Amino acid sequence: MVARRILIFGSTGSIGLQALDVCDRSDELEVVGLSAGTAWEPLVEQARALGVPRIALADAAAAAEASRAWPDGEVLSGPDGVAALVAESGPDLVLNAIVGSAGLLPTIATLGEGIDLALANKESLVAGGELVMALAEATGAQILPVDSEHAALHQLIAAERAAGPGTIERLTITASGGPFRGMTGEQLASVSVADALKHPTWEMGGKITIDSATLMNKGLELIEAHHLFGVRYEQIDVVVHPQSIIHGCVALCDGAVLAHLGLPDMRVPIAYALHHPNRTDLPVARLDLIAAGSLTFEPVDLEAFPCLRLAREAGLAGGTAPCILNAANEIAVHAFLSGRIAFTRIAEVIEATLESLDSRPLSEFEILFAADRTARETARGFLA
Ligand SMILES: NC(=O)c1ccc[n+]([C@@H]2O[C@H](COP(=O)([O-])OP(=O)(O)OC[C@H]3O[C@@H](n4cnc5c(N)ncnc54)[C@H](OP(=O)(O)O)[C@@H]3O)[C@@H](O)[C@H]2O)c1
Repeated sequence: MVARRILIFGSTGSIGLQALDVCDRSDELEVVGLSAGTAWEPLVEQARALGVPRIALADAAAAAEASRAWPDGEVLSGPDGVAALVAESGPDLVLNAIVGSAGLLPTIATLGEGIDLALANKESLVAGGELVMALAEATGAQILPVDSEHAALHQLIAAERAAGPGTIERLTITASGGPFRGMTGEQLASVSVADALKHPTWEMGGKITIDSATLMNKGLELIEAHHLFGVRYEQIDVVVHPQSIIHGCVALCDGAVLAHLGLPDMRVPIAYALHHPNRTDLPVARLDLIAAGSLTFEPVDLEAFPCLRLAREAGLAGGTAPCILNAANEIAVHAFLSGRIAFTRIAEVIEATLESLDSRPLSEFEILFAADRTARETARGFLA
């Protein structure tokens, strides 16, 4: 059997490392290319260990260091390096596990070549969903979601599509509620960075952990689901489910509801995307319903956690609004992580940025890149 050739963007991060673990356990997957932002030492170590001939680093200085330390390999850099890594590695499937809108370029490069994309980088779809989905459609490339909720919905919808079109009424995405579930806006004003980084059920990179604490992560996932599954915003619900055992539900026209369950472990959706349409054995903990006891559900407190409302409004506005939301969020989260603003300022900075910039129709990626730049500058202005 010929192994599937996998290229991983963001292989030094939380998803990237778990993907390498999934690949390591399988004879069916061969890693052929790796990338990171600045972390050249672990990246070179990964390349050496896996016999990968080519890597890319977004940061030019880090790429120069990597070239000196690894003369036997090819080290690419910058936006051209992203395109060259995709073109020269000859992957069957690319995993995009970069954090933030920096992931947009690998998404475009992959889909533009007609190569299937396992997508963890939700920001690509949030910022440029219409254009990204149109590009995939034009080249025939598949997008396989790696987010656990979207991987769950992907499986449920695929099973239901056999029944014919028009049977799906609603989608539900679950949220753990994050570390601050139940707190009021007043209490949230004084939470620390360390508190916000303590996620109750998932271990993730810093940015998504803060997005989970503000519930912006669910807002980003709402927009992601709208684009991935072609479902109207009005048909997508977000429900707080602190146990994180049900990842997603699909409600059907006959009143039946299909749910996807499993203990929280990102290697499950990663393996689903990398092996699709096959399944593989994974040594993850198995769900024991009796041990799980009760599964509970509650509504999102939109007053204490306004980011979900902002995301829904931006999604409904369409055009460049979700890109503005995403860019402002990245700036505000970064400012919070570096101790420059309070937790509750994150939503305020995003709202102020959205209010001060008009949404424009999205007809090409250049419009998106310009909107991203302007939104970042505007959001930085509100940090002062
Ligand atoms: N972690 C999870 O459980 C989880 C679950 C669902 C979805 N996701 C999504 O998956 C994506 C990755 O999340 P993560 O938690 O794995 O993040 P992470 O741990 O912070 O890792 C991010 C990766 O992206 C690279 N990177 C950062 N900035 C870059 C840039 N400008 N250009 C190129 N590469 C860059 C990093 O390289 P360096 O090491 O050099 O910084 C690292 O390899 C996010 O979109 C997140 O929302 C994550």
